[in-house]
Amino acid sequence: MRTRNKPDRVPQASFDARWHRRLANPLGTTNTSAELTVSASSTFLAADGDGYELNMGRWSRRLARSFLDYVGACDAGLVLDVGCGTGHLALALLERSASVIVHGVDLAPVYVDYAKSRSPSPRLEFRVGDACALTYPDRTFDRVLSLLMLHFVPRPHDAIAEMRRVAKPGAVVAAAVWDARGGFVANRMFFDTAAALDPKAVERRARNYTRPLTRPGELAAAWRRAGFVDVSESVLHIRMEYASFTDYWAPYLGKDGPGAEYVATLGADERNRLEHAVRAAYLDGEPDGPRSYAALAWVVKGVAP
Ligand SMILES: C[S@@+](CC[C@H](N)C(=O)[O-])C[C@H]1O[C@@H](n2cnc3c(N)ncnc32)[C@H](O)[C@@H]1O
Repeated sequence: MRTRNKPDRVPQASFDARWHRRLANPLGTTNTSAELTVSASSTFLAADGDGYELNMGRWSRRLARSFLDYVGACDAGLVLDVGCGTGHLALALLERSASVIVHGVDLAPVYVDYAKSRSPSPRLEFRVGDACALTYPDRTFDRVLSLLMLHFVPRPHDAIAEMRRVAKPGAVVAAAVWDARGGFVANRMFFDTAAALDPKAVERRARNYTRPLTRPGELAAAWRRAGFVDVSESVLHIRMEYASFTDYWAPYLGKDGPGAEYVATLGADERNRLEHAVRAAYLDGEPDGPRSYAALAWVVKGVAP
């Protein structure tokens, strides 16, 4: 059970407890009735908050800090977190400033509920909504940010236009997406192994590495096309550290994200064969134990005119 804890902070102990429960029960059998969210506005499979934390939240929390360093001052006013997921960016913003107010919006009700459960702060508001049809008035926010969402939006230019619409003139508007094709080692290890074993995975891999706005220069071009000024694009780098193969593999047995979505299509024999082959890639002939993989994200920022 998630509980409300100290304001503005996700207690590490509580996160670790959930995490270890999930490692002990990677299929998440308590979540069999979880709602799965995909829609015409999203290609991301969302099932439950704990599953997301296993799959991506533990890394997006890390990326959020570098992203905010890149964005620059967000220490006052009203900030919008578009595609907020389970709330890592919004919480990181609150940790940095005693006065900023953050609104988060996401298509997945289960993630929004999870985000709401993490902090009772009156400076946070999360709601369900579509990035391509935001319900906020024009020129509302002092900063508009989006972490790891735009590549899952089939019509990302609609979402970017909305980000511009709700930004006040002079507001910094910024986003990050994984450089999944060129800079996401842990994920490539999974999909390259799957594609070598299963022709159906070749198409999955292609889809995963050709998502919108993930090629060099695409984010900056999209920002200029949307009319932002002072546009710049850069790359952020984090490490993804795993304690063991079990730690690495557990998210693929869940329900959230593209890897788990593919594994769920496999029968038991196919899944075992894939696990065996991915384990060999993880081990590289050495004993099981910690591994650390690099992950790169494209980032863009610009100023609303
Ligand atoms: C990889 S997660 C990133 C979540 C969060 N920003 C983070 O960094 O942890 C992608 C998120 O984008 C959301 N999403 C995808 N398309 C969306 C849309 N059209 N409108 C709002 N949220 C969307 C998904 O529900 C999911 O929570």
